[in-house]
Amino acid sequence: MLWPQNLSKRIKTEVNLACYTSFKIDCLAEYFFQPRNIKELQQVVACAKQSGKRIFILGAGSNILVGSANLEGLVLRLANRNFKQCYLKGSNIIAGSGLKLNSLILFSKKNKLSGLEFLVGIPGTVGGSLIGNAGAWGQAVGELISQVGVLDNNGKLKLLTHKQLKFAYRRSNLDKFIIIWAKFKLSPAKKEIIALKINDFILRRKHSLQITKPSAGCVFKNPAAGSAGKFLDACGLKGRVKGGAVISPHHANFILNTGCAKSSDVLSLMNLMQCKIKEKFSIQLEPEIKIWK
Ligand code: EPU
Repeated sequence: MLWPQNLSKRIKTEVNLACYTSFKIDCLAEYFFQPRNIKELQQVVACAKQSGKRIFILGAGSNILVGSANLEGLVLRLANRNFKQCYLKGSNIIAGSGLKLNSLILFSKKNKLSGLEFLVGIPGTVGGSLIGNAGAWGQAVGELISQVGVLDNNGKLKLLTHKQLKFAYRRSNLDKFIIIWAKFKLSPAKKEIIALKINDFILRRKHSLQITKPSAGCVFKNPAAGSAGKFLDACGLKGRVKGGAVISPHHANFILNTGCAKSSDVLSLMNLMQCKIKEKFSIQLEPEIKIWK
């Protein structure tokens, strides 16, 4: 594969994604690159497209299952500080797509801006959270977004206005783009009030999820009829093991890696979960985690 000459030395091959994903499952990425800026990103994307290579964007890797032991294509990680910048514009915050949600929340608290507190503890980045419209406690990140800067399919920078953005439960129309930054519309508030809200959400999260081992968060989206976790629990699936993967004994919509899980173990448990729910409740569960293959 011929990469741009100025970048070729930094484009790694056969990189294990285990240390870049919260599931910590082994998978070798054919190509792996961390661009330092938008220009490098544009260059590498153009080259991969010309060669027909698939492109995968890695945020915090907290909502991803790599579907096999080898991943063909180019994995891009936007972790350079140029993709993590964050600044104020009135009561708005403009944040880079590679910024972790928890860092964004700290920045908003420091600047006495409220609205993001419910996202505390979600281990994703700004970009990843927008693609899947991450949420908790009945709120979702899309409600706060007024503009998004992206690279479009032709590698051109594009501004998407509020009108062009579509968010639904754990979905958005941003998955065909590479997100560069997003503008969050927030409200002024006292620092102490924001801190109290954050602490309250941390406690709620600790109590309901009790995540003790590597995972990728909730595996399935909640169906219209209610909580996927509750339905899966009613099927008696908590604690079910396949190889190195186990359905959490605390929350039945979580699969945990006990140390040596393979992606096939997780996929097999997911299949079991879907079959049991279909059988007992006639509900088709849809994965919430993104499966790369
Ligand atoms: N429940 C059970 N058994 C279980 C799991 C849950 O009975 O094994 C019950 C709980 O006791 C509660 C109800 O089901 O009465 C709902 O549970 P929970 O509050 O944990 O919420 P959830 O619907 O399972 C959703 C999101 C979570 C988010 C929480 C809190 C989805 C798929 N999940 O879970 O998001 O943290 O609400 O707002 O939308 C994620 O997206 O990765 C995620 C974890």
